[in-house]
Amino acid sequence: MTKYILQTLEEKCFYLISEWEKGNNDLFFTEYTNTIKKHLTSISIEEQVYLLNHMSLEIKIILKNLSNIFLINFEIKSYLEMLKCSRNDLEKLTRTHYLFKTFEYKKEIFLSKNHSPECIVSVGCGSVPITMIAACFIDCNKIIGIDIDKNALNRAEKLINHFQMKNCHFQHLSGELYDYTGTDILYIPNFVDAKYEIIQRAFDTRNKENFTIYVADSMLIYKIFYTPLDRERLKDEGYQIEVFKHHNQNDLYFNAIRITKKI
Ligand SMILES: C[S@@+](CC[C@H](N)C(=O)[O-])C[C@H]1O[C@@H](n2cnc3c(N)ncnc32)[C@H](O)[C@@H]1O
Repeated sequence: MTKYILQTLEEKCFYLISEWEKGNNDLFFTEYTNTIKKHLTSISIEEQVYLLNHMSLEIKIILKNLSNIFLINFEIKSYLEMLKCSRNDLEKLTRTHYLFKTFEYKKEIFLSKNHSPECIVSVGCGSVPITMIAACFIDCNKIIGIDIDKNALNRAEKLINHFQMKNCHFQHLSGELYDYTGTDILYIPNFVDAKYEIIQRAFDTRNKENFTIYVADSMLIYKIFYTPLDRERLKDEGYQIEVFKHHNQNDLYFNAIRITKKI
């Protein structure tokens, strides 16, 4: 059964790549969500583990690339959708939209340790800075979005200005270079690869007693789409880590690692 899944998955990947190259974008998006993504998340945990262990590196890379193409385009679509909505409708949209399914979770994260964080930094805020918007909804005083991609940053800025969120600020910088002095909470999403370097830099430059880092982590089949965190490596490097789970959601694929201390 699992061998069959692996074989059909490989065929599907090559087919989708060729359709994308031919410019059949609509077909690419529907097929990607309806077959690859749905299929991979509907198989059992044991089958997912089998696939992770037996899938060739080539197919893993293709799947990661397919997922990136999908997400970049989906983000642009969602961005345009958001620009059309008013500040009053923003919370409703973020609660119901697929891209924002982590919205409530992020608000919960921000309120979990620091009751009223004064400064939240979102590294890799992207063009749809959902982490920053979630921080706005908990009335954080200062929210900084950092990104290495100037275009993404410009779009994010336009969106934030559209909603008149005055406590949001942006910096075109890599997270490894930011000075985290004054930061209460740092959030690092899945897409950012230099997680360990950013964590180290944050602990080297932070000055607040309650400073907390939340790093998104992926599990099971999602480890193919997003590079997972190596928890043992974090422990070896002296970080005190805990798993943060959404209180009313048993998410099999995502959670966040909370780091509060370095020994
Ligand atoms: C797709 S976004 C995800 C952010 C998500 N919308 C959020 O609100 O949390 C990931 C972004 O991380 C940025 N990025 C990747 N590595 C980075 C780094 N080392 N420093 C800053 N930004 C980074 C990318 O340019 C991209 O825009």
